[in-house]
Formats: sequence, structure tokens, C-alpha cells
Amino acid sequence: MKKPTQLLRIEDLDNSRIKKIIETAYKKLRAEKISLRKGKSKPVALIFAEASTRTRVSFQRAARMSALDTYLIESSSSSIAKGEDLKDTVLNLQAMGIENFVVRTSSTEELLALRDLNVGVINAGDGVGEHPSQALLDLLCLYSKSKASWGGVQNKTICIVGNLSHSRVVNSWIALAKALGIKLRLVSPPAWAPQDKTLWTSDLSEGLAGADVVMALRVQKERLVDVSLDPAAYQITESLLKGRPLMHPGPINWGVELAPSLRSYENSWILDQVRCGLYLRATLLNEFIAT
Ligand code: CP
Repeated sequence: MKKPTQLLRIEDLDNSRIKKIIETAYKKLRAEKISLRKGKSKPVALIFAEASTRTRVSFQRAARMSALDTYLIESSSSSIAKGEDLKDTVLNLQAMGIENFVVRTSSTEELLALRDLNVGVINAGDGVGEHPSQALLDLLCLYSKSKASWGGVQNKTICIVGNLSHSRVVNSWIALAKALGIKLRLVSPPAWAPQDKTLWTSDLSEGLAGADVVMALRVQKERLVDVSLDPAAYQITESLLKGRPLMHPGPINWGVELAPSLRSYENSWILDQVRCGLYLRATLLNEFIAT
């Protein structure tokens, strides 16, 4: 039996495994097909202790299309609402024979504590920690738009703009870009700057100059403490994009990080990202769930 494996951080994957995952997911995307898993259907629990639409439904749908036996655990209808922590939830489900988990939680500490357990875990987003499956599906989208050429991906400069300091997506992207040699720029007001400022500028024009793809991030209004800061600062508009592809992990605050007129922007890849998510997550389930 293959040892259960965990994807909690992008650094859990090396360069060749990242490429293998993207190339496998790309084949599924091209064929619009998710193969059924061979042999006995495995149980997998999808623990969503924090709100989600895209990540939850795409993992759920990918698991069902792969003929996995899914159990959705949401905070409102489970003992998480009574204060049970993530480790206890997982141990209790493991006692019922469930060995594999997809987990979204607001607690990075609780997620990382699962490293001590002998179970498979795919991180579906932890607090302001990481969101590896989102960064990987973004990469799949970029790879697909680059005609499935790694050289094409590495030739592009991606500019990520917005609420960097509260973004788990950007943390996964920084690790992914480092692993693959992808050119990244990060732009935000100083109040939202990342801890590591190597790739960062507060100058939007400087960040956008020469960028091939622009990715906006959600302004996490629920986490803002500086009330003097206009949440629409650094809003992306059609005139700033100049026809370049637009990405956004969602959900979007229209009129905040994106101008409302971009709802009908011709070169938006936003729903392509969502479509890529289904095939990428099917690949992760196949890769990380013990057979
Ligand atoms: N991008 C993303 O994680 O969206 P959800 O919160 O809807 O899953």
C-alpha cells in the first residue's frame, strides 16, 4: 500500500512533481475527462471549516467523477461548531476508516498539526497561510494558454496586485514561481506589502510595465484593520490592462479590486481558471489519495 501523502505547502512538491501534476491535469482538461479510479472506491472527507464555493465544489465534483466515496464536513453542521479541533475531527473520521482528507480551515496551526498523523491531506486553503491547489490551477491555466510549453510559461512575467499581506494565494505563488523559475512581480499599497519585499513595489505603473499577465487579488475587507486605507486603492481597470490577460482567484469584489466594466472584459481568464480547477483537483486527488 502506498504511504498516505500530504500537500500542505507548495514546498511539499519538487519541480518535477509540479510539472508532472500540471501535465497530467492538462491532458484531462484537453480531453474534458476525469477517469474513474480503478479498484475499490476510497472514502475521502472534505472538511470545510471556512466558507468556499469554487474550491469546495470543484474538489467535491472531481472526487465524485473519480468515483471516490465523499463525505462533506462543514462547520455549521458538524461538531466543529461545538469547538472540536481539526486533529480530533480527523482522528475520529480515521477511526471510521477514512484515511484521506481535503481541508479548508482558518487555522494554519491546526492544519500543520495534521503532519503528525498518518493520513493523506490536501490543503484547500488555510487562513493567511497557503492555497496550493489555487496556485496550481492558476499555473495549469497559464500552461494551457502558453500552448502547453514550459518555456512559454517561463517567458511570461506575472504581476499580482492587491491585498498581498492577507493572501494565502500569493504565498503559494511565491513558492511556485521560485520552484519553476517563473517571473513574478508583486504590487500593493505599503500597508498590504508582503513580509519578503524582494519582488514587491508600491508603484502600480512600475509593476505593470512589461507584465504579460495581471492577477488581481480579493481585498479581504473582513481582515482590514487600517480604516484610513481606501479598499479600492490599486483597482484594476481596462485602461491599466491594455488588453492583457486578467486573472483573479475569486470571489471578486466588483468595484473594489476590479472595475465593474471588467465583467465583460474580452481577455479575462477568470472562468478559465475555475474550469482548470476541476481537472487540477482531480489530478491532486489521484496523486495524493492512497491506493
Ligand atoms: N478561490 C477560492 O478559494 O474560492 P473559494 O473561497 O470560493 O473556494
